[in-house]
Amino acid sequence: MSAMLFTPLDVGAVRLQNRIVVSPMCQYSAVDGRANNWHLMNLMQLGISGAGLIMLEATAIEPHARITYGCLGLYDDASEQALGRVMGAARAVAPAGTRWGIQLGHAGRKSSAQRPWEGRGALGPNEQPWTTEGPSAIPFVAGWHTPHEMTTQDIVRVKASFVASALRVVRLGFDVVEIHAAHGYLLHQFFSPLANRRQDEYGGSLENRMRFALEIAEAVGDVLPPNVALGFRVTGTDWLPGGITIDEASALSSALKQRGVAYVCLSSGGVAPANIPVTPGYQTHLAAEVKARSGAVTRAVGMIVEPQQAEAILAEGQADFVALGRAFIDDPRWVWHAAEQLGAVDQIHYPPQYERGGAPNWQGAAILRPREHAASV
Ligand SMILES: Cc1cc2nc3c(=O)[nH]c(=O)nc-3n(C[C@H](O)[C@H](O)[C@H](O)COP(=O)(O)O)c2cc1C
Repeated sequence: MSAMLFTPLDVGAVRLQNRIVVSPMCQYSAVDGRANNWHLMNLMQLGISGAGLIMLEATAIEPHARITYGCLGLYDDASEQALGRVMGAARAVAPAGTRWGIQLGHAGRKSSAQRPWEGRGALGPNEQPWTTEGPSAIPFVAGWHTPHEMTTQDIVRVKASFVASALRVVRLGFDVVEIHAAHGYLLHQFFSPLANRRQDEYGGSLENRMRFALEIAEAVGDVLPPNVALGFRVTGTDWLPGGITIDEASALSSALKQRGVAYVCLSSGGVAPANIPVTPGYQTHLAAEVKARSGAVTRAVGMIVEPQQAEAILAEGQADFVALGRAFIDDPRWVWHAAEQLGAVDQIHYPPQYERGGAPNWQGAAILRPREHAASV
């Protein structure tokens, strides 16, 4: 039996060995933006997962672009060196052909925040908050920092910082650079009328609200060598009246594709509080719609948990590849288990050191799997 999940996919000039992606997930564990032994453990573990593409977490292009003090950065030589050490180790244990990507971002008005386990709110006066910036001087919610309204010079500076970080990404040997334009962070703030009230050429019409993201796509694309693919994570809907709709998301995806962006990942929400129906595959329809309307290579994400579910998304042509977040935290061996369930073990690399733990060699595996994941991860 051959599973589509385990067939290769070309993303730009980058060949993924399979269509399974570890979704970017902040670890909030860096110090001064620098990766450390937590990242080493996390990425070595994910490195042997067998996923075709492993995405590193949202990584700030400037210190003040970080969401929290624990966020990873790639804005100076020290942060580049620290990540270089971690990536050297992770690459050394990963199966040949594993591709690595990193997400670059700027948190905009949602920066200067507490780590999730410290409250998730805006940093208080005694927590060394910093001045945030955004398209307009409108806070995320009442009680959050009111951002400085970015000037044209600020916009030019942030574009240059995206480029500088992308050059560091290239030096570190990554295969994919993904720009974070979702989850209510800076580029999403510019895109959504809920956060952008500008009167200049970066606000108002759809064309104007897309401008910043498209300029970054062009500027970063210009400095990437042909063997590094550029992707975007975009929002498919704000789940709010007056917010981004799938029509606008499709328009942005088409425009990104025209500028050489190799894929878009369809996520949603985050620009302002909303009721998001978090059920299995809750964002897959966004990927399907954008794929049909823009012809872009699309990645689906969001409560994709079961192998058959992931396989069906591909088989039905809803997306070209899938990203899983919490399922990988829960089960870093997800790829191996999916291969067992889909009859595709000959399509993956199983580390020989771990062979005795595989389902055919140990009865316990059959008892433990397949198992039900809670619907509300
Ligand atoms: C701990 C954690 C950290 C996350 N950090 C990021 C991030 O850095 N960038 C991003 O685009 N999404 C981030 N996400 C969202 C995931 O990438 C993913 O889109 C979301 O969890 C839905 O997918 P899932 O149901 O498979 O987890 C994070 C999610 C979790 C659980």
